[in-house]
Amino acid sequence: MKNKIKNNLLGEGKTKKIYTTKNPHEIILHYKDSLTAGDGLKKEFLKDKGILNNEITTFIFKYLNSCGIKTHFIRRINNREQLCIKVDMIPLEFVVRNIITGSLSKRLGIKEGTLSKNPIFEIFYKNDALNDPLVNDHHAVFLGVVSYEELNIINKITFNINNILKKYFLEKNILLVDFKIEFGKDEKNEILLSDEISPDTCRFWDKKTMKKLDKDLFRKGKSEKIVIDTYMEVLKRLNID
Ligand code: TMP
Ligand code: ASP
Repeated sequence: MKNKIKNNLLGEGKTKKIYTTKNPHEIILHYKDSLTAGDGLKKEFLKDKGILNNEITTFIFKYLNSCGIKTHFIRRINNREQLCIKVDMIPLEFVVRNIITGSLSKRLGIKEGTLSKNPIFEIFYKNDALNDPLVNDHHAVFLGVVSYEELNIINKITFNINNILKKYFLEKNILLVDFKIEFGKDEKNEILLSDEISPDTCRFWDKKTMKKLDKDLFRKGKSEKIVIDTYMEVLKRLNID
């Protein structure tokens, strides 16, 4: 019999499935083709999107690992799957903004494309019933999902990730406008960057043309071909020296 490492479905999100493995400390992340916007109101399947996001996340997590950022990523298994360290996910989304757009532009009435000298950190509480509300450090600690000490560590890691990725993408002529990351804790309670980093979770603008190279194209109703071709373009640029 073939050596089967994938066992039971442990969980399923909007864009990924999680499977157990024989090793209780490891899981398999399976990237699906589904894509949602507006808290799941708009949902579609974009053929091969999961393959592209697996490739792009693999590339970025490997790079971050090589820069000393601790992540859950162990290795890519096949075109849709990664072997990762099993973590307890902290139910918070950490957003970093270098250029103002999206929900912050609306919330504070700031012109889209305004550069921020200081990276702006935001925290959203992952709760579908509440539409993932914006919270601050004190709310997050009050909710019991993280401690002040852990937030301190997360802020430092997030700041480093922003500096590393901003520089790296700029070399590929891409502006890292903003992005969302998530963290989990391993069995030793160490905080590891988890989940994915892809055009689904970042805003990328072409440095020269300011063309959008991310999920905003889907949010704005562009065709499947345009969205997939754009994700392919991001992967291609990452692979160019
Ligand atoms: P926002 O401007 O809509 O708040 O998004 C900020 C960044 O976070 C942007 O890069 C997209 C990303 N993001 C996610 O990855 N998942 C989400 O559910 C949301 C709302 C934003
Ligand atoms: N929170 C949104 C959703 O469910 C995702 C987004 O717009 O980025 O689908």
